[in-house]
Amino acid sequence: MLEKPQIIDLPKILDRRGNLSFIEGAGKHIPFTIRRTYWIYDVPGGEVRGGHAYRTNREFVVALSGSFDVVLHDGIQEYRYHLNRSYYGLYVPEMMWRSMENFSTNSLALVLSSTDYNAEDYIRDFDVFKTIRKNEK
Ligand code: TYD
Repeated sequence: MLEKPQIIDLPKILDRRGNLSFIEGAGKHIPFTIRRTYWIYDVPGGEVRGGHAYRTNREFVVALSGSFDVVLHDGIQEYRYHLNRSYYGLYVPEMMWRSMENFSTNSLALVLSSTDYNAEDYIRDFDVFKTIRKNEK
């Protein structure tokens, strides 16, 4: 059985000098060991990132600044998450079709990944994705 996407709350240290949140690497706050980190920024209004699935890579997405939507599809159903706070994030298991859209001005999307970048891990055709998902059930 494949996992479901999930919003995960992060530790939040409230302080009058400014708040602090954190994520440790080895599966303590998120369900995988962090292997890679990337971030998406300077997104022009109306642009959409993603539009693919990963065969094995799992991700955790945080809106470090501003807001955006993460749109997921499991081959049957669409899930839409509006991320707009830096003290929680969205866990995206492998084999979910994923897009990111509706970026606010100056938004910053942090993505933690469970694998190194590997172009061969990408599925870029939605019909191929749906067929693989159907055969996994
Ligand atoms: P891609 O994952 O296709 O971006 P998006 O899905 O948001 O459109 O990545 C865009 C380009 O960046 C692609 O040429 C591969 C490169 N890239 C890396 O080299 N390393 C990485 O960790 C990522 C995420 C992308």
